[in-house]
Amino acid sequence: MNPCIAPSVLSADLGILREQVEAAIRGGADWIHVDVMDGRFVPGITFGEPIISALRAITDVPLDVHLMVDRPQRYIADYAAAGADVFTIHPEATIHVQRHLAAIREAGMRAGLALNPGTPLSFLEEVLDDVDLVLVMSVNPGYGGQAYLPAASSKIARVRELLTRRGCSAKLEVDGGITVDTIRLALEAGADTFVAGTSVFGTNDPEAAVQALRSACAVKV
Ligand code: DX5
Ligand code: ZN
Repeated sequence: MNPCIAPSVLSADLGILREQVEAAIRGGADWIHVDVMDGRFVPGITFGEPIISALRAITDVPLDVHLMVDRPQRYIADYAAAGADVFTIHPEATIHVQRHLAAIREAGMRAGLALNPGTPLSFLEEVLDDVDLVLVMSVNPGYGGQAYLPAASSKIARVRELLTRRGCSAKLEVDGGITVDTIRLALEAGADTFVAGTSVFGTNDPEAAVQALRSACAVKV
């Protein structure tokens, strides 16, 4: 399994966003993760469709859009048109989750479901056939730079077991506190896709930082 590394532009220097993203891609970033926050589902407010369009214009790398917003279904059509490839929603943010996951696929994107640290797997089990990606939050969403919650590893393992048991090929992504140290914990628990904000864009060399994360995955222990 080749790990999929998805640097999060939440931690990027937005004044030089293009440069930062290009450096991460030179380092081997597989996806670019875009954290959309609305000031309601989480306290902060970040980016919307214009940033997705801007990123789309500078790279063909898949854009992995994580919606920490209330009623994310309102943005499905616009974000698909802007060039989003993965559209991940939180079950607490909307009522008709299954309908919206289906609509995300119909709009031509991959449908993701995110599980907060306190959200049980049962939310996922009910809609597993409708998801292309499961996002296990290893921090409570809203901020970059938080520490990886150790309980995330057992949750990742339980999601992996569920995917295997149900013959589901969805990607298993982990988001929050991923560093050269914690990426191993998530990898060994069964994650295949790794979001990293601070550990990539919080450094002065995003290219080397992505390479370091990939090397950390490859180290034999
Ligand atoms: C947190 C976001 C994350 C964030 C991760 O709410 O969903 O994607 O960018 O940042 P780090 O890697 O710094 O924990
Ligand atoms: Zn995220």
